[in-house]
Amino acid sequence: MKSSLELKEMYGKKYVDNYENHSPIRLERLVSYFSLNNTHVAVDFACGNGMLMEYVAPQVKEYIGVDFSEFFIDSANNRKNRLGIANAKFVHSEIENFCQTHKKIFDVGFAMDFSGHVYDKEWVKILNNIRASLKVNGKLYLHRRLVFGLTNLGYYRITIH
Ligand SMILES: C[S@@+](CC[C@H](N)C(=O)[O-])C[C@H]1O[C@@H](n2cnc3c(N)ncnc32)[C@H](O)[C@@H]1O
Repeated sequence: MKSSLELKEMYGKKYVDNYENHSPIRLERLVSYFSLNNTHVAVDFACGNGMLMEYVAPQVKEYIGVDFSEFFIDSANNRKNRLGIANAKFVHSEIENFCQTHKKIFDVGFAMDFSGHVYDKEWVKILNNIRASLKVNGKLYLHRRLVFGLTNLGYYRITIH
């Protein structure tokens, strides 16, 4: 098992530069399933380079992306500036710490391509924290591609979401 520091260090410059080549198609396919409106405050947990921002921010009052990789946060801020999106901001933080200081704030949360990147026990803790950050009746959209193979966590796993 990798330590939390080792897991965090995986998302360095090389990983982030490589992620730029990922296609947004997997996110585009999901947009029609989201129920959003211009009063919503939305949070994108483990936002990475903020790829989801351009689909969500135009439909909500505010979009906030949270990620513990400073390289991903830099990349997300570059994307925001490049696209000129005014109602988005990115926070460099562990999700658990962020949720502790943002309770019952969000109407909508997203966790895209994230669940497969944390160990199961950690995932349960993160989900409890996420729940506390959502308003009563808030929604969480969770998506994970079908994965069959050696994951970043160092073991084989099959996940279908
Ligand atoms: C595969 S990327 C997914 C990025 C984005 N959600 C997407 O769909 O393109 C996984 C992300 O999880 C972030 N991450 C992993 N554990 C985290 C934690 N405990 N707190 C904050 N971010 C975390 C990583 O930094 C990375 O950006």
